[in-house]
Amino acid sequence: MTAELIAHYQARINQALDQRLPAADLHPGDLHQAMRYAVLGGGKRLRPVLAYAAGVAAGAELDVLDAPACALECIHAYSLIHDDLPAMDDDDLRHGQPSCHKAYGEALAILAGDALQALAFQILAQDTSLNVPPAVRLRMLGVLIQAAGSRGMVGGQAIDLAAVGRMLTLAELENMHIHKTGALIRASVLLGALSQPAVDPILLERLDRYAKCIGLAFQIRDDILDEIGDAATLGKTPGADRVRNKPTYPALLGLDGAREHARILYDEARMALDTLGAEADPLRWIAAYIVERAY
Ligand code: IPE
Ligand code: IPE
Ligand code: MG
Ligand code: MG
Ligand code: MG
Repeated sequence: MTAELIAHYQARINQALDQRLPAADLHPGDLHQAMRYAVLGGGKRLRPVLAYAAGVAAGAELDVLDAPACALECIHAYSLIHDDLPAMDDDDLRHGQPSCHKAYGEALAILAGDALQALAFQILAQDTSLNVPPAVRLRMLGVLIQAAGSRGMVGGQAIDLAAVGRMLTLAELENMHIHKTGALIRASVLLGALSQPAVDPILLERLDRYAKCIGLAFQIRDDILDEIGDAATLGKTPGADRVRNKPTYPALLGLDGAREHARILYDEARMALDTLGAEADPLRWIAAYIVERAY
């Protein structure tokens, strides 16, 4: 039942993104094609799904959630385009296809990422389907700005690059993951919940605790999958972290230690939702999915 609901959210976000991305034949066509390639070419849509699930748990209507969900996925897709560039992780495979710079060249890939970031903020600032008071919209913009910038995802990516080849302490590794991946996942849950302007601050605080735990657990699982996954299932090249000497949870704690760490975070996430009823079941399901997923 919940799995069907998640599939429904995934189909919904795919359509909402298709509608909001510039048409492939709109000038400059090659840039718009690169943007569409990177966004519509695949992906689990975890951040939009979280925004829908958190929004519904807070009592928001699905129609209000399309814009924040699209904004989140645009930031995410841009982060992956840039993450795969030769100057960063130098990965040729993404979503089972050539990564954006392999398909469109480095310069256009950089620009497609830039434009997707701008589009994300345009959607959140202007999309009329997000029918909330201006003060709420401004608060939502602040959440996404913080999560995307140098004190959030981009800062985490900088920490990641600076850490290549170094052994980090557990606290340093956690700090890196919280920023590069956790920040946007946290923002996904918050934007969903804030789409209900009357959201109870105590509920917001519980959802935030849930989001912090699953955000970190998500990147731990990503690190584990880089070790144990295969390219056909992952849609990206496995073993890339080890080859590049990336600090990861499995490198520091071993595979079992990393799994155990993710499990503890899962338990904490579930506890944060303890006082919530069936309206939070999709969030519970997503937490389990995050630590068990195969890709
Ligand atoms: C991959 O994210 C990069 C990380 C932040 C770990 P996802 O695994 O959510 O990427 P897609 O969009 O589903 O491929
Ligand atoms: C990427 O982390 C995090 C962001 C894109 C912000 P990874 O470098 O581990 O992601 P994958 O494994 O390439 O998807
Ligand atoms: Mg990376
Ligand atoms: Mg990478
Ligand atoms: Mg990875």
